[in-house]
Amino acid sequence: METHQLNGVNVGKLDGKVAVITGGSAGMALAGAKLFVEEGAYVFIQGRRKDALDDAVKEIGRNVTAVQGDASDLDDLDRLYDTVKREKGSVDVLWAHAGNGEEAVLGEISEEQFDRAFSLNARGTLFTVQKALPLINDHGSIVMTGSNASLGAFPGWSLYAGSKAVQQAWARVWLNELRGRKIRVNVLTPGQVATAKQEELFDGATIAAFESLIPRGKMGRPEEIATVALFLASDDSSYVNGMELVADGGATAI
Ligand SMILES: NC(=O)c1ccc[n+]([C@@H]2O[C@H](COP(=O)([O-])OP(=O)(O)OC[C@H]3O[C@@H](n4cnc5c(N)ncnc54)[C@H](OP(=O)(O)O)[C@@H]3O)[C@@H](O)[C@H]2O)c1
Repeated sequence: METHQLNGVNVGKLDGKVAVITGGSAGMALAGAKLFVEEGAYVFIQGRRKDALDDAVKEIGRNVTAVQGDASDLDDLDRLYDTVKREKGSVDVLWAHAGNGEEAVLGEISEEQFDRAFSLNARGTLFTVQKALPLINDHGSIVMTGSNASLGAFPGWSLYAGSKAVQQAWARVWLNELRGRKIRVNVLTPGQVATAKQEELFDGATIAAFESLIPRGKMGRPEEIATVALFLASDDSSYVNGMELVADGGATAI
């Protein structure tokens, strides 16, 4: 897909917009970054591994700046936004996507596991948003990536579910705090999505068990989340605010 033109004029859904995406060097956020650029945006992606960022920049091809850093590290977030401010001055779309998850059954949860989950999914997400605020333009869109684990009752995933569930509360309060600036805040909540990381984490039997919960019997593809992110980022969702949009093939619904 290329930036759409009508009579020589760009009419992409994000024409002239600046987007920041944490965790944007792989998986669904990389698919989203590509789509945002195809729709006319300039995109900043953040991730910890330089090689992955370099590959992502090549894959996206144009209108992208990669800033190496950890979304749970407040100094790294400052460096990210300093770069954005220097290069573009302001932000229209913030997709706080970086997150992590690991299995941990109640009774065996360690302090380290608790801190790992909450320092990125909760604390990191909050400061990713808060530190972006001075740069976000009026009518901007903030999207946070949740997980349908927070809507279910999957044994072993309470820590992850809890660390993501905060976002639904934050979206509602923050949009009210930001109403004067007409900034929308929504949560994009994926179900199982086939990424390289998924394949690394789970064996074939586990993936088959996940897929048995999905009506169509197949996990989502990163591109199927990217289109939902584009919807929430763009004016297509201008009347959608404070919502959690679940993209999980119906797994939560049934
Ligand atoms: N895949 C799923 O089935 C699924 C389902 C529900 C929700 N989610 C959520 O989706 C997000 C992950 O997306 P994905 O599965 O598409 O990604 P992925 O393929 O696992 O890639 C993760 C991306 O995030 C970056 N990242 C990881 N930790 C980071 C950190 N602390 N700071 C900055 N960047 C970081 C990674 O790069 P580096 O490693 O180089 O930092 C990479 O670019 C998480 O929020 C996760 O909770 C995933």
